[in-house]
Amino acid sequence: MSQAPTERPALRSQRLNHVTHAPHTDLDALVKSHAPFDSRDSFARFVVAQYLFQSELQALYTDPALISIFPDLASRCRATQAGLDLADLDTALPAPVAGALSAPTLGQALGWIFVSEGSKLGAAFLIKRAQALGLSETFGARHLGEPAGGRAEGWKQFTRTLDALQLSEEQDAAAERGAVAAFERFTELLRHAYATDAALA
Ligand code: HEM
Repeated sequence: MSQAPTERPALRSQRLNHVTHAPHTDLDALVKSHAPFDSRDSFARFVVAQYLFQSELQALYTDPALISIFPDLASRCRATQAGLDLADLDTALPAPVAGALSAPTLGQALGWIFVSEGSKLGAAFLIKRAQALGLSETFGARHLGEPAGGRAEGWKQFTRTLDALQLSEEQDAAAERGAVAAFERFTELLRHAYATDAALA
């Protein structure tokens, strides 16, 4: 993720980028601390977190009001791919974890989707590392695969629509809180995924 600017950016997507800069740095460090690319077992715990996160967001990706804003939204969800990855990795689908997002406002929902979509950018780096474990976008690391039409283009289209939306100040503030909350939730799910592993060991 790029450097945090010192002034409040004009574009909504840049503001969201700005407020999530520190949480992203922290999450990146937490991911790396678990060395997900040292073994398939460790990578599977990372995929458990991804699966839980994507599953919790499925209701947003299929929400008619959000689809009226982002017509291709449903096809952007990666819960199915993450579930198939777990099967490839001989890992059972995890049970839901209490505390999932529920009935967010439009503003909040936009912040969460921003984070989920943004995570596809870092995925370009992660899938290269996953290849060293013999995994690919057709086996074990499907959810990190390049989206149809390309990663950069998909992100550009998403942020163009997001930035053009007319929102109230309160909705914008809710989007920023939503984006930060999404990072907190992923962090919690990641800790849960690796703690479960420790409990099984
Ligand atoms: C759940 C959410 C997210 C997770 C788990 C996540 C995870 C990661 C990780 C682990 C890396 C490091 C890859 C490496 O260096 O090998 C990374 C890099 C990156 N992420 Fe994220 N990320 C998330 C959300 C986002 C969002 C919201 C954005 C943009 C708005 C973003 C943009 C990037 C970019 C551009 C990189 C490339 C390296 C860099 O410039 O630091 N990520 N991400």
